[in-house]
Amino acid sequence: MTIPAELVHAIRGAGHVVVLTGSGISAESGIPTFRDAQTGTWARFRPEDLATPQAFRRDPETVWAWYAWRRETVAEAQPNAGHRALAELERRVSKLTLITQNVDGLHQRAGSREPVEFHGNIMANRCFAEQRRLTDDECLPGTPPRCRDCGSAVRPDVVWFGESIDESVLERATTACATCDVLLSVGTSSQVQPAAGLAELALSCNALVAEINPASTPLSPTAHYCLRGAAGAVLPQLLTELKGTDE
Ligand code: OAD
Repeated sequence: MTIPAELVHAIRGAGHVVVLTGSGISAESGIPTFRDAQTGTWARFRPEDLATPQAFRRDPETVWAWYAWRRETVAEAQPNAGHRALAELERRVSKLTLITQNVDGLHQRAGSREPVEFHGNIMANRCFAEQRRLTDDECLPGTPPRCRDCGSAVRPDVVWFGESIDESVLERATTACATCDVLLSVGTSSQVQPAAGLAELALSCNALVAEINPASTPLSPTAHYCLRGAAGAVLPQLLTELKGTDE
């Protein structure tokens, strides 16, 4: 794979780089994507049974058990070369905002500081009634656990279908995309709104946009560059090229 020299040059000179990641970056850590045929989570499970507030109201035990199983997968996973390359990229450019749709926390474990967790974090808990994040001490054991304060069921602190993105998270993400010089869209199918609109926003604000994905997506026709490959291979290579031009 040849990394375009113009892209490397643009990243080096950028005042602000945004990286938007999706489940594809964690695929090489053994966490399934959502929409890949056969292996994707939504090829095996129905989101309306497991990832909506209605499903949780209807059958909290099943939803909790499914998330408990996914939490185990995430706990066993390790960050890969793609996550590590982004953590290093953050240290090499003037300013980098990492926005992730992933709920697995692997960016932080690889060393990225304060990524914008657009869809929440699967390891965190939230009170279903009060909508506030709970510490472990605030959860009484059960399947699902109960909020010590109000007795309501406890849910994972992720965004479900039909739910809005937290206002401050949306604000941080849109401001970054409207003001960045370069946006890298990594491992996302660019199909889920409002996250998919972030790259479009950057494009409309004249940022240079590059997609890193082995497959094409709705963003591909308008992106300035499409680097067709796995994040775990392309991102370290991009970093090597950047280091080369640093010296
Ligand atoms: P998708 O499953 O929709 O897309 C994953 C993308 O990763 C696809 O375009 C793949 O081609 C690409 N991919 C696969 N392996 C890759 C690799 N090694 N390197 C780079 N790319 C690779 O996942 P998302 O776009 O993350 O939302 O899905 C967006 C949202 O839909 C998720 O955050 C989740 C889901 O429903 C919620 O849970 C709210």
